[in-house]
Amino acid sequence: MCCHGYCYQKTADWLMSHTKHRPQVAIICGSGLGMLADTLKCQDSFAYSDIPGFPQSTVQGHAGRLVFGELKGKTCVCMQGRFHMYEGHSLCKTTFPVRVFKLLGVETLIVTNAAGSLADGLHRLTYSLLSVVYRFGPRFPAMSGCYDKGLRCLAMEIAKEHGVASLMQEGVYAMVGGPNFETIAEARLLHRLGVDAVGMSTAPEVVVATHCGLRVFGLSLITNKVVKSYEDKDSVNHEGVLEVGRLRSQTVQQLVTELVSRMEIN
Ligand code: 6GU
Repeated sequence: MCCHGYCYQKTADWLMSHTKHRPQVAIICGSGLGMLADTLKCQDSFAYSDIPGFPQSTVQGHAGRLVFGELKGKTCVCMQGRFHMYEGHSLCKTTFPVRVFKLLGVETLIVTNAAGSLADGLHRLTYSLLSVVYRFGPRFPAMSGCYDKGLRCLAMEIAKEHGVASLMQEGVYAMVGGPNFETIAEARLLHRLGVDAVGMSTAPEVVVATHCGLRVFGLSLITNKVVKSYEDKDSVNHEGVLEVGRLRSQTVQQLVTELVSRMEIN
C-alpha cells in the first residue's frame, strides 16, 4: 500500500529499525504547540528529511521532526510540525504519517491545532475540544463518533481539576483549505453553518485515523477571533497565531500530558 510512490510499510520498517520505542500514542502538534515533544524522556528524534518516504514541512513554526519517547510511562511518538493541503501536499501525503503510526502499533491519536473562533462565546485564549483503500479499513468509513467520547470526558475532568474548565469547550471545528485566512463573507457563512472554530488542518488526519481504527482525541487552541464584521479593524496574522500558541502552550501541554498519563491503553 503506497502513497506518492512510497510504501507506508517501508517507512514504518525504517523507523522501527532506527528506534526501540514502540509507541501506543501518537501526538500531532499544531502551530506553536510542538514543545510537548521536547518533554519526552529517552528521546529518539528524526528530521522529516531523514525519514524515507516522509513528506517535508514548509511552514514556519513547525520544526519538521518526529520524536519518539516516554511520556508519563506511555510510549509516544510526536510530530513537531504537520503537513497541510495549502503547502501543495495531496491528501495522501498530508495523512501519510497517520497510517505509518498505525503500522507502528499506535492505538490512540491526539491531534492539536491553532484555530480561530467564530462562536461569540468562545474567546481568544480559550480551547475548543473537537467533537467531530482497503488495507487500512472500509471503503466508506463512518465519521459519527470519530472523536472518542471517553477521552473527551477525561479531558473535561482534567480541565476542571486544573481550574481551566471555563477555558475548555466542546464545539465544531471546520477545516478550510487555506492558504489564506477567511474573508468576512466566508467567516459569516461558516458561523451560520454552525462552525465554532476554523483552521487549515486536522480533518484529513482524523478521517484517515478513524478509517484505520485509531481512537482520536482533538484539541484546538483558540488563538484569535475570526473577524466577522466589516467595521472590525482587527485582522488575523500568522505571527499573532504563533505568539498566542507559544503563550498558551504550557497549559495545552499540561492537559495533553495529563490526558496521556490517565488514558487507558489496551
Ligand atoms: Cl482566523 N482562520 C483559519 N483558517 N485558520 C486559523 C485561524 C483563522 N486562526 C488560526 N488558524
